[in-house]
Amino acid sequence: MVSLDSVLPLRIEEIEIWRRGKRLLGPLSWVLDGDGISILMGPNGSGKTTFLRAMHGIERISNGQMHWAGEEPAVQRAQAFVFQAPIMMRRTVRDCIAYPLRLRGVSRVLARDAAEEWAARVGLGAALSRPAMVLSGGEKQKLALARALVSTPQLLFLDEPCANLDGRATHDIEMILKEAREAGTRIVMSTHDIGQARRLADDMLFLHDGRLLEATPKDRFFTRPATPEAAAFLKGDLLL
Ligand SMILES: Nc1ncnc2c1ncn2[C@@H]1O[C@H](COP(=O)(O)OP(=O)(O)O)[C@@H](O)[C@H]1O
Ligand SMILES: [Mg+2]
Repeated sequence: MVSLDSVLPLRIEEIEIWRRGKRLLGPLSWVLDGDGISILMGPNGSGKTTFLRAMHGIERISNGQMHWAGEEPAVQRAQAFVFQAPIMMRRTVRDCIAYPLRLRGVSRVLARDAAEEWAARVGLGAALSRPAMVLSGGEKQKLALARALVSTPQLLFLDEPCANLDGRATHDIEMILKEAREAGTRIVMSTHDIGQARRLADDMLFLHDGRLLEATPKDRFFTRPATPEAAAFLKGDLLL
């Protein structure tokens, strides 16, 4: 396992992301460091997905810079990303979870054992031999989480992992994220669910129109938001 100290902090300096003459993000500066769960909120289209993808290194930066403390291969290996709508492979649940380990050269037997352990942890122990494609929405999200966590990432990005899930599935995923946090995984995730942010966050990031308006401890964000945009968002007002 790569140590978190060997890759963080990630210093994000005045990054901008432009596509087809339109600025989607920035200029935005932030330092990803420390531990715990940072939760990213903001209206639809505010740039949450773009920002998460940029940090993970899968979105081209137009201006500004991102500096990792660590060297490239370690930085890559240290992180995983859970997409909002995970793409399911034409494999069994067991093989899907084992796949990232196989890519890293782990033997078939060890990868299978780890996959079975993670399937059990996320509540998919009875679904090991089922094709991933036939899982329910909540089961697919759990599979995506197991596939991300099986390689014990030090840093985990999640993009609205509980969108469209019922209360039970959301609860289960929140428990898995809390366990990962306790085990030392640094988590950055977006959500549109204020209750979820209150339950999980250590600190809050608020995006509006591609700009990071707040980066603040959770309690202060919910009791004394610093910007009128965040205050309006928390009240449930539409931000135009
Ligand atoms: N590849 C792209 N090309 C052009 N516009 C994009 C692209 N991806 C996202 N956008 C636009 O960028 C803005 C931010 O999108 P996104 O990061 O998905 O926001 P959020 O996740 O907060 O809803 C939106 O206006 C969206 O329509
Ligand atoms: Mg999004």
